[in-house]
Amino acid sequence: NKQANITVLQGDYIGPEIMKAGLAVLKAVSSEGFNYQLNFAPFGGEAIDQFGAPLPDSTLDAASSADAILLAAVGGPKWDDNPERPENGLLQLRKKLNLFANIRPTEITADAMKYSPLKIYQPVDFVIVRELTSGIYFGKPRELANDGAFDTMRYTRSEIERVAKIAFDMAVQRRQHVTLVDKSNVLATSKLWEKVFHEVARGYPNVEVDRLYVDAAAMKLISVPNQFDVILTENLFGDILSDEAAEITGSLGTIPSMSKGAGGPVLYEPIHGSAPDIAGKGIADPLSMIRCVAMMLKYSFNRSDLSQQILDSVDAVASQGINTPDRGGDSSTQQVTNKIIDRLQKNTKYSRYIKN
Ligand code: NAD
Ligand code: IPM
Ligand code: MN
Repeated sequence: NKQANITVLQGDYIGPEIMKAGLAVLKAVSSEGFNYQLNFAPFGGEAIDQFGAPLPDSTLDAASSADAILLAAVGGPKWDDNPERPENGLLQLRKKLNLFANIRPTEITADAMKYSPLKIYQPVDFVIVRELTSGIYFGKPRELANDGAFDTMRYTRSEIERVAKIAFDMAVQRRQHVTLVDKSNVLATSKLWEKVFHEVARGYPNVEVDRLYVDAAAMKLISVPNQFDVILTENLFGDILSDEAAEITGSLGTIPSMSKGAGGPVLYEPIHGSAPDIAGKGIADPLSMIRCVAMMLKYSFNRSDLSQQILDSVDAVASQGINTPDRGGDSSTQQVTNKIIDRLQKNTKYSRYIKN
């Protein structure tokens, strides 16, 4: 029972509020025999204030040597005019740890669809696999001048291949379907994505594939979200579509993500940002962060049992109508978190009772 070494990056605005919730849930399930140690490191705006840079070497070291990394969110108005923004620390962290695949699940039970703005009363269960360390986010050259500016969207074959394989491997474990989302009617990078996608698909004869232009995909996500299984897309499209996908649940504050590379630590972070508009009010939705903890237990520590207990408790509490205001409730972050922990402890007692 080796001790798990988890680096914690709380970040800014609601970051520490939701991290506290996630860690309280982690502590609650650890009584089931999960031995871990937390290592808090400054990151984002918090690190700019302390060290003048959003990703200090000591934080990068703590992240690279961890078994897993939990991150809440960084950025906000306080640092928007700083020469280097907190968000750049996040981009550098992803790049330096080579976390090229970002997995963003939208999984909603039929019951939880009552919180959806969509009138679809069926379960929704798909994942977006977003390329995370290339494309227009990192492409050079890039320039900002007074009377003009440019960015570069650039992809290599191997960058597409490695993330496509992750999408196909996921599909094999799911419903055997991958949808590529691109803009191959216009963009050269998309044409390469399409080509490489079909080459990789040949290695997965049982996986069905299709392809959508990103504009049509944005439409289908809200008209027929239950028709998707795995969606594979490039960095910027994935950023945009995943916020849209989150809103199917009724709030951006519910969706976790994991970012992984070819080995090494995996980073778990909500897909949303630091929500400066609601920070300090104690009403941030903790579900995204709590689901990150569940994801971490399953994928980094092989504890599907604890992970499932958390997800079940989250669903049970939501189905009782206990929610933060973003999903129409009147509970605080802490109240929702405490209910989830109560529920977990009841379930655990019950499972012990059965075992004995
Ligand atoms: P945001 O995701 O922070 O917020 C968008 C809207 O969703 C806001 O109205 C916010 O209140 C709401 N929201 C988000 N998370 C919520 C939660 N857990 N509970 C309840 N409501 C929630 O996006 P933004 O306002 O465009 O950006 C704010 C800052 O966050 C910016 O500096 C941005 O760059 C940064 N950002 C960081 C990350 C990250 O660290 N991974 C991701 C996205 C944005
Ligand atoms: C996200 C965020 C980041 C991104 C920003 C803060 C750089 O929006 O994780 O989705 O665009 O990747
Ligand atoms: Mn985003």
